[in-house]
Amino acid sequence: MSRTVQNFDLASGVKIPWLGWGNGSGQARNVPVQAGLIALKAGIRHVDTAQNYLNEGAVGETVANSGLSKDEIFVTSKLSGRKSDPSVDGYTVPVNEVRSAVQESIKKLGFIPDLFLIHSPHVAARADLKKTWQVLEEMKDAGELKEIGVSNFRPQDLEVVLDGAKYQPAVNQIEYHPYTLAHLEPVLAIQAKHGILTESFGPLTPLLRHPTGGPVKPVLTKIAKRVTESNPSLPIPVDEVVVLLLWTRAMGVVAVTASGNEERIKLLAEISYLPENILTKEEVQEITSVGKTVHFRHYREHMEKDFALPDLPDGTT
Ligand SMILES: NC(=O)c1ccc[n+]([C@@H]2O[C@H](COP(=O)([O-])OP(=O)(O)OC[C@H]3O[C@@H](n4cnc5c(N)ncnc54)[C@H](OP(=O)(O)O)[C@@H]3O)[C@@H](O)[C@H]2O)c1
Repeated sequence: MSRTVQNFDLASGVKIPWLGWGNGSGQARNVPVQAGLIALKAGIRHVDTAQNYLNEGAVGETVANSGLSKDEIFVTSKLSGRKSDPSVDGYTVPVNEVRSAVQESIKKLGFIPDLFLIHSPHVAARADLKKTWQVLEEMKDAGELKEIGVSNFRPQDLEVVLDGAKYQPAVNQIEYHPYTLAHLEPVLAIQAKHGILTESFGPLTPLLRHPTGGPVKPVLTKIAKRVTESNPSLPIPVDEVVVLLLWTRAMGVVAVTASGNEERIKLLAEISYLPENILTKEEVQEITSVGKTVHFRHYREHMEKDFALPDLPDGTT
């Protein structure tokens, strides 16, 4: 089995490993250095963090102690605002503080992240969203940032940033899985038109957070059984989690997942090295079409505001 990192291309041609390990959720958030070192040792080469996970310093420490060169590890961070600061309104960052907030991230990390995102459109006051993006563009021009992108952006947010942009967002990191596909249709259409790569956070939501697993779960079970029977030499057991992550990859979407558990981190690393095309086109299509019959979202604070929901059941019955 090849241990060559499996990448997608950003519009610029820069490579991004298709599976990222985040330290913003679950146990990984509490033990970011310990879990991060396990992840890098196991072969993970893409780490996702953010200002409000409060562990950019831990990422810097992890990379410095990994025995790898920084160039071997793709790191993303995000402009999140500082809710803990009572002088700042919610998560918003005033435009004149964006540059220093980004510089603070770089200082904590100890390097320029490969990708830097606006964590949500609500990080900026509405009238300042464009200007906030322009600060990131200026920092990219000045060599202070590399790739820049967005997260939790709805159609109306993408349109603000794309209008006259010097640089289009490299990615939009959003809750993406079979049960958000119907709602995301207008977002994905804009992204396809502009070459904006989709990154999925919460890719395992149908299995972990949906109360019953919904209609996609038995489909994943059936496909896991078929894959196991037809690929006896795969290095890991193929279950529903593996199939759902492989579906994300087959959709051309980066999977940003997480774990703080040593065995499961190692499993995620193994999944990241699996060859392409383990799932058939028909299997990918079946997961997609069954997923589109349901709307279920776990992270609701950003994308459900002023963005009409599809008239679909939540798949619990
Ligand atoms: N941009 C944003 O607004 C935003 C929002 C949310 C998340 N994120 C990023 O995305 C990352 C992942 O988010 P997420 O937690 O929602 O992703 P997820 O992939 O849906 O769920 C990750 C959870 O899956 C569990 N898990 C991992 N492997 C498993 C396996 N083989 N079997 C069963 N459970 C397994 C882990 O629990 P254990 O630790 O117990 O293994 C972990 O808590 C975050 O850490 C963060 O970096 C970004």
